[in-house]
Amino acid sequence: MFNKLTIDEIEVAGKRVLCRVDFNVPLDENRVITDDTRIRAALPTIKQLIEKGARLILASHLGRPKGKVDPAYSLAPAARQLSQLLGKPVTMATGSVGADVQQQVDALAAGEILLLENLRFHAGETDNDPQFAAQLAGLADLYVNDAFGTAHRAHASTEGVARILQPAVAGYLMQKELKYLGQALAEPKRPFVAILGGAKVSDKILVIEKLLEKVDTILIGGGMAYTFLKALGIDTGNSLLEADRVELAGELLAKAKTKGVEFLLPEDHLVTAEFKAASPAQVCDNSNFPTDLMGLDIGPATIKAYRATLATAKTVVWNGPMGVFEFDAYSRGTFAIAEALAESDCLSIIGGGDSVAAVNKAGLEDQMTHISTGGGASLEFLEGKELPGVEALTDK
Ligand code: 3PG
Repeated sequence: MFNKLTIDEIEVAGKRVLCRVDFNVPLDENRVITDDTRIRAALPTIKQLIEKGARLILASHLGRPKGKVDPAYSLAPAARQLSQLLGKPVTMATGSVGADVQQQVDALAAGEILLLENLRFHAGETDNDPQFAAQLAGLADLYVNDAFGTAHRAHASTEGVARILQPAVAGYLMQKELKYLGQALAEPKRPFVAILGGAKVSDKILVIEKLLEKVDTILIGGGMAYTFLKALGIDTGNSLLEADRVELAGELLAKAKTKGVEFLLPEDHLVTAEFKAASPAQVCDNSNFPTDLMGLDIGPATIKAYRATLATAKTVVWNGPMGVFEFDAYSRGTFAIAEALAESDCLSIIGGGDSVAAVNKAGLEDQMTHISTGGGASLEFLEGKELPGVEALTDK
């Protein structure tokens, strides 16, 4: 049960509402937004607040400008995009705190929107400086947090401000994310399968440990698979290897066995000589891995085995690609997982930037139960950690 106040439980008409969103979106070299998913995901909360007559102050970070004003990280493109999506003006603030911004806030009428400039232009944001949090709090009467993607950061706009500006409530996106991720962990329909990929075992240790308590099966892919294979004494040529994690990988495999969790590793691979998109691929299996080649994707037998597991799964959590899916020749494994989930009637929850990008690239986003807007945040949630941005909100 969600025990925090939500935007449905507050009166916002005529009030100045500070709403933290995560508009940390990717931009190309011309500062054009290449994926506005995070802005779209915040629309239900934004629309609700303006329809109810809030004087809306939106706040976000973009990138990591390290406490300095840098026009390359301005949120102006996000203001334009939001304005287009809503079909109404969104004023770009001159900064994120201070007298000029206060004037812009005071000028807001009910239903109007001001987007503050990148919060990380101030070091006080990431430092969770109480003074910066107080300045933010001073702009508004109420606080809404809809930035699930940043909820794992204890920053001034996510944690500090919520301690000062009460009531501090959860927006719709925040609630939706916590509902799906929470549901998967709390009462999963079984079989419950976790698919974990990506380059490094070290990034996923905590989540693997936590999921070993919950799931029936873990499927491993991506660069981290080779460290696990090494722990089983399988030679994987020039593939990515975290030599200092081999022992730990072996311990995780042993733990899975003790707990009766099926832990599947790739049985075959697409291997090549160089880490290049055009470097030609060949298939090998674990018994004949060429010493001078590296694995860049799972192979056809592994795809078949993983698909068979996913065909009967009832709950699936997926974080991390199966191979170097940015290279067409090595994207098959990752796309096959996306297709298998689309075909299945399981509850499918996708987290992590790369797996989400793969699902989008495959055009299968509508066929997933939930695509998280949080990479780090969804991982920390699955690790069982408390999210500071959620903890700081007002209890019901
Ligand atoms: C993200 O993209 O994961 C969030 O916006 C948080 O960004 P950060 O990793 O720079 O804190």
